[in-house]
Amino acid sequence: MAKIILTGDRPTGRLHIGHYVGSLRERVKLQNSGEFDKIFIMIADAQALTDNADNPEKVRQNIIEVALDYLACGLDPEKSIIFIQSQIPQLCELSFYYMNLVTVSRLQRNPTVKAEIQARNFEASIPVGFFTYPISQAADITAFQATTVPVGEDQMPMIEQTREIVRKFNITYGEALTEPDILLPSNEACLRLPGLDGKAKMSKSLDNCIYLSETADEIKKKVMNMYTDPEHIRVADPGKIEGNTVFTYLDAFCQPEHFSKYLPDYNNLDELKAHYQRGGLGDVKVKKFLYAILMEYLEPIKKRRTEFEKDIPAVYKMLQEGTRKAEAVAAQTLAAVKDAMRINYFDDAALIAEQAKKFQNK
Ligand code: TRP
Repeated sequence: MAKIILTGDRPTGRLHIGHYVGSLRERVKLQNSGEFDKIFIMIADAQALTDNADNPEKVRQNIIEVALDYLACGLDPEKSIIFIQSQIPQLCELSFYYMNLVTVSRLQRNPTVKAEIQARNFEASIPVGFFTYPISQAADITAFQATTVPVGEDQMPMIEQTREIVRKFNITYGEALTEPDILLPSNEACLRLPGLDGKAKMSKSLDNCIYLSETADEIKKKVMNMYTDPEHIRVADPGKIEGNTVFTYLDAFCQPEHFSKYLPDYNNLDELKAHYQRGGLGDVKVKKFLYAILMEYLEPIKKRRTEFEKDIPAVYKMLQEGTRKAEAVAAQTLAAVKDAMRINYFDDAALIAEQAKKFQNK
């Protein structure tokens, strides 16, 4: 069976380093591994509208930001098909048919939907489109017969719901859809990078992110102001690692070779952590180390982004080309789905003949 990746992001802002370690870095690795037959990367603008219906301009403005971030991180349109969700009408059609296979109570139990309803204060006034976005996400994934969906841990319930829809579809109508597997980042610390302030998640509204497109000065300022251990006041004090955001980021970004390069007094992260816990290691030193490491990742990204920014029309062209290719694949799946559901009346010569016979014998 062909190995096919589909994944994507909502274009509601520039991408940040949480996206980078949580998914982008992994995607680029998968892309370059040569192990996959096809890779689809979707800018999920239609899904972004499910909770930004009153602000389509925000979504419109951020499509190019996300596309630039993709290219800057090393996604390559020669190897990955990058496309815009709303421009693929087949996704809406698939969603419409999948809606019959999902109950309201099942959607209400989806943990991601539950958490997001709370976070957005929707309470009783949940838009139907938002409530049903797991179904549309199942359409996104199955339209491309994806076998592998590399996403962050928060998307686990979405993939589970997709798998249920696929099973229900295939049992009800016959095998037409592929059951996808989730692919989580391999490094624990990358599953959910906390915000700079130590809060659960990086989010634009909390203003606790480092964006991929930020300048070195902005990043330095942010790192130097990061949340650490509030009880670690003097350098000599013993410090805590748990919940210390600087160390969480080191877990996500630090490689053994960074020590010989920037902190040769230590051999690895465990030694650095042990020193911090014993006391005698100041926050500033650790933060400078983290800053140096972050810049190793972010500088080349920023440089590539600046190059792509010079020809924005070419980036839109690339998206249009990707969208055209993606639509051709989605159209094949939709045709297979309609065949399986037997709603392919005009292509079904047997149906027409059978009906003709029935009426002639009257
Ligand atoms: N829900 C994803 C997010 O919020 C975006 C997304 C939409 C997606 N459709 C998808 C991810 C399909 C993976 C597969 O980030």
